[in-house]
Amino acid sequence: MRAAGILAACAVFATWGLVHGENFDRLSDADRAAFAERFEKEVWPMLSKGGKESCIGCHAVGKNNVTTLRFTGDARKDYAKILKEGYLIKGDAGSVLERIKTTRSDRKMPPGKRDRVPVDDVQVLERFINDMEAKQAKK
Ligand code: HEC
Repeated sequence: MRAAGILAACAVFATWGLVHGENFDRLSDADRAAFAERFEKEVWPMLSKGGKESCIGCHAVGKNNVTTLRFTGDARKDYAKILKEGYLIKGDAGSVLERIKTTRSDRKMPPGKRDRVPVDDVQVLERFINDMEAKQAKK
């Protein structure tokens, strides 16, 4: 019951974001397509490394954990989705990159005693985020 309550709260929160038109995707169609391709080649292998224990495995749609970050398993669709939802914002504490890089043990991803993401993989993601930020239209 308690878990159901928390999940319902998350659903309401996520819906709030959508209803209020939070869309963090300010790329041109051409840039979005190019970055989706790069995401699949460069970033997806890191996110899916480790199967069920990977970022994508634990954050799979339908998994009963308390998070609004959800991957369907389709790299390009998931790219468009998490870009829109704001998980790829440069420097945002709730973003994929910052949750990987954080020094706070209660915030780091993957959680708990799991090994940290290798530095090389973090750098690939960081470069990707920086390149994308440079192409995002200014508000
Ligand atoms: C063992 C399961 C598990 C794995 C593996 C895992 N996560 Fe998480 N993640 C969670 C849970 C549970 C939360 C919600 C609690 C929290 O925010 O710490 C979360 C929260 C997050 C959030 C914040 C989402 C939000 O709701 O705003 C991000 C971003 C994130 N994870 C990214 C990652 C990335 C990137 C990886 C791989 C490097 C990863 N996670 C691996 C379980 C997991």
